[in-house]
Amino acid sequence: MKLVAVIFDLDGVIVSTDEFHYLAWKQLAEEEALFFDYQMNQRLLGVSRMESLAIILENSSKEYSFTEKEALAQRKNQYYKRLIERLSPRDILPGVNAFLAKLRKQGMKMAIGSSSKNCPLILEKIGLADAFPVVVDGNQITNSKPDPEVFLTAAARLAIAPENCLVIEDAKAGVTAALAGNMKVLGVGAAATDERATWRAADLTEVDLQSIIF
Ligand code: BG6
Ligand code: MG
Repeated sequence: MKLVAVIFDLDGVIVSTDEFHYLAWKQLAEEEALFFDYQMNQRLLGVSRMESLAIILENSSKEYSFTEKEALAQRKNQYYKRLIERLSPRDILPGVNAFLAKLRKQGMKMAIGSSSKNCPLILEKIGLADAFPVVVDGNQITNSKPDPEVFLTAAARLAIAPENCLVIEDAKAGVTAALAGNMKVLGVGAAATDERATWRAADLTEVDLQSIIF
């Protein structure tokens, strides 16, 4: 099956923001006396803000109302936005710019499929606001990864059948979402060891585009 479109996850694939998400959740967890560690953080990769909070609150004995949960998520986002204030093109992950240039040369269609509501702000900060003709993010979807909605919406907007799309993902939830959407997946970063991925690489410097596309 010929691949004609590539749908990129944003956080952990295009740009290194995961540490900032981690630090922001950690600050909130400390202030609220909630348990939070690196292992728990791994479960937040690719997952929406409210679902991330639900994972953090799993072990809490206190019951939080919906309004309280919204306030907590908003506070985390304030900490996160402060941390990404100085995000710049230097934070683009290794191999990304060269990979995008190769895809453009091949005439491949490109999109972003991200759970993040900060996606437009981040793309602006790293100088890639105009790099993707289609951007589907957390502001536009109802069901977050592992549901395939974000990728299926991106494919529909590109007018490409899901089986002709390659998703590039660093999160387990994202790999699940892409496979559920009947797409091929290249696992990078944390997903470089995910055996369900169609292809795997530590980062995009290691990817031989020709062997994937054809
Ligand atoms: C994903 C991240 O891209 O976006 C998750 O991997 C994050 O860790 C999610 O929770 C939602 O992000 P935001 O920016 O809307 O809080
Ligand atoms: Mg990611």
